[in-house]
Amino acid sequence: MNITIAGTGYVGLVTGVCLAELGHQVICSDIQEEKIAMLQSGRSPIYEPGVEDLLEKNVACGRLHFTTNSQYAYGNAEIIFIAVGTPEQQDGTANLAYVREVAHSIAQFMKNDVIVCTKSTVPVGTNDQISEIIHRHKPANLHAEVVANPEFLREGSAVVDFFYGDRIVIGTDCSKAAAIIEQIYLPLDIPIIKTDLKSAEMIKYAANAFLATKISFINEIAMICEKVGANIEEVTNGIGKDQRIGPYFLQAGIGYGGSCFPKDTKALVQLAGNNQHSFDLLKAVIEVNNRQASLPVSKAKEVIGSLKSKKVTLLGLSFKPNTDDVRQAASLSIIKELLKEGAIITAFDPIAMSNALQVLGNTIEYTQDIRHALLHADVAIIATEWEEIKQIPLDFFELYMKKPIVIDGRNCYSLKEIRKHRITYISIGRPIVT
Ligand code: UGA
Repeated sequence: MNITIAGTGYVGLVTGVCLAELGHQVICSDIQEEKIAMLQSGRSPIYEPGVEDLLEKNVACGRLHFTTNSQYAYGNAEIIFIAVGTPEQQDGTANLAYVREVAHSIAQFMKNDVIVCTKSTVPVGTNDQISEIIHRHKPANLHAEVVANPEFLREGSAVVDFFYGDRIVIGTDCSKAAAIIEQIYLPLDIPIIKTDLKSAEMIKYAANAFLATKISFINEIAMICEKVGANIEEVTNGIGKDQRIGPYFLQAGIGYGGSCFPKDTKALVQLAGNNQHSFDLLKAVIEVNNRQASLPVSKAKEVIGSLKSKKVTLLGLSFKPNTDDVRQAASLSIIKELLKEGAIITAFDPIAMSNALQVLGNTIEYTQDIRHALLHADVAIIATEWEEIKQIPLDFFELYMKKPIVIDGRNCYSLKEIRKHRITYISIGRPIVT
């Protein structure tokens, strides 16, 4: 199959390299010249485990190409995946400008019949709009079919998720188009769910909203655990064994971040509102999540009082481990609050420091040396559960900090181990250790 992917962000790039690995001829297109030049030389603009190896291999064997030329990208494609961004607008709705632009370009440059497959997360009804744009502008003798094919790739494990996902959703009212898209994924041995267009669009939002709800739910339970003296780890273990609940996505902490959950939950609230329904449950999920990110600073203030001129070590900047992405990361809200309090911040992150620098500039100090980060610190705050942070020898906190006070927003350490040290340790939903 000749496949083109429009947009080489996380989703587009991972989809492109993985489809090439399955043996398809793939062209990845993007409007950013610099990004395409980098990809052409076999280097990935994002840190995503596994991507660079597949990139190098598939470029070398001639199955994977990169271009900024839309005519070349859409001219000979049989299948075009739309994977451009749908960034959040001020009112919480998704900005569909890039999606519409791609639809126009496809109509303008297509030279044969195509199936247009939307991977971008788009509000219900958007694929109908895409179809309408293409049909209005395409050559009359050519045929185009639109399919909703949402992605369920997690940053940091996107390649594994592509090859071993739980399901593939193909949404279209055209059974011929569904059968062709099914063929593409057949080597993967992943259950395929075929739906109508709108249900496929809804599946994506409902999945992300449900996962976000699980996180806010467990964070509420953690809050009550703190108040009554229970331990959230024991509680999640106890409820997670119930197969109807399951053990996943019940990690209490300072909340969800990233480019998906915060944006998609707000967009679903908007979508509901635009259709005369107030999605109160999801509104509460969002509120709880906003509160979680403010916990480390309030907890720090409870222990040491004013943070003015206090040295704070921030461990972890990315929104979760194994990614360099800092979009909507809890660390950013924490830093903003700390700066407002007058604290002096030194941050450590194994991968995300250069992305953080672009957002935060020199308002904080960055270091790759954990010992330096902790040196003479009044308090350490853990914002991301990187393995490098989980593996910090606990006596480092005692040795290097002024007074070892650790606020752990991701419950990285076992209380049993912590109790062997002289550390004041405050985590989420677990008893305080002093
Ligand atoms: C999420 C979904 O998991 C993917 O299925 C989906 O395809 C993707 O969004 C998307 O819409 O493109 P992602 O945002 O990459 O993927 O990362 P997750 O692993 O889902 O984590 C999201 C946030 O939730 C992180 O900040 C993480 O720290 C937090 N989280 C996750 C918790 O606080 N507790 C948990 O138990 C799990």
